[in-house]
Amino acid sequence: MAGDRRGGGAPGAQFGRPIKGAPGGQDGRPVRRWKDDDPRTAVVRDVLRAVISGLVAETGRPRLDIVDAGGGTGGFAVPLAGLGHTVTVIDPSPDSLAAAQRRAAEIAVPLRAIQGDVADLPGVIGEQGADLILCHSVLEYVDVPAAAMAAISRVLRPGGAVSVLAASAVAAVVHRALAGRFEEATRLLGGISTGQAGSLPAAGSPDSLDGAADEHTAGRPRRFTLAAVVGLIEAAGLRPGAAHGVRVFADLVPGIFADADPGAAEALLALERAASAHPAFHDLATQFHVLGYR
Ligand SMILES: C[S@@+](CC[C@H](N)C(=O)[O-])C[C@H]1O[C@@H](n2cnc3c(N)ncnc32)[C@H](O)[C@@H]1O
Repeated sequence: MAGDRRGGGAPGAQFGRPIKGAPGGQDGRPVRRWKDDDPRTAVVRDVLRAVISGLVAETGRPRLDIVDAGGGTGGFAVPLAGLGHTVTVIDPSPDSLAAAQRRAAEIAVPLRAIQGDVADLPGVIGEQGADLILCHSVLEYVDVPAAAMAAISRVLRPGGAVSVLAASAVAAVVHRALAGRFEEATRLLGGISTGQAGSLPAAGSPDSLDGAADEHTAGRPRRFTLAAVVGLIEAAGLRPGAAHGVRVFADLVPGIFADADPGAAEALLALERAASAHPAFHDLATQFHVLGYR
């Protein structure tokens, strides 16, 4: 996902400043750069950049302990390792982990890659062993999202943060409808809870994940409402932080418009950034990003 891009433009700014003495950047070797001109990933990188700066300032440690739970091929983990943070990827897929390690080797940075489930985190990392945990596009696949979030909570240090990226159930309905798949859209719509914002229905109830349990049982990724993800964060004993919509327009706008003239891609990126922080657009976004603090 992190490698996707739409539109052209010059290479983007770095994800953050490399730590002095870290592999890459300071000694002439290249630091992996994030593509800040990609409207589908820019918002998450913007938020992570700010979170990392805040954690470095608060802890007084420039080298954070970061865990990418379900980190896949390392699209987020490797650039963070490239900045000098101590990064562990835990993922059940050996192929993905091998790809992540190849990526890390390309820029000569250390990356710990461990085959496992997010639920294994306390045993692998240790209680309160991480400053920052990424949980990006993973709650859609785990057996029990509440158990995954509870494991993440146990591994976070006090003051630490989890970065959650999850697929929106509302956007899935909109996208099906726009593609003319009306019956599928109606079925997905029927699975979205009308519960009060911020509330999480009792575990195991039909509404417990906005109908998502049904999708997962059927072998499809779950989708969530923002309220359900905030509820998972709170139920794990974490304090919800800022929420942003991700890919509010990027997946709706035909590529021909973004590629139409030299300024269009930049204008779309500016629109994405503006809409991402606007609560009215959160559920319409293909994904939403939410922070949780211990
Ligand atoms: C859509 S990919 C997202 C990869 C990466 N986080 C990203 O944002 O690019 C989902 C990842 O979750 C991993 N995954 C699935 N079930 C998992 C589990 N129970 N615990 C940890 N990771 C899991 C998959 O192997 C896959 O790498």
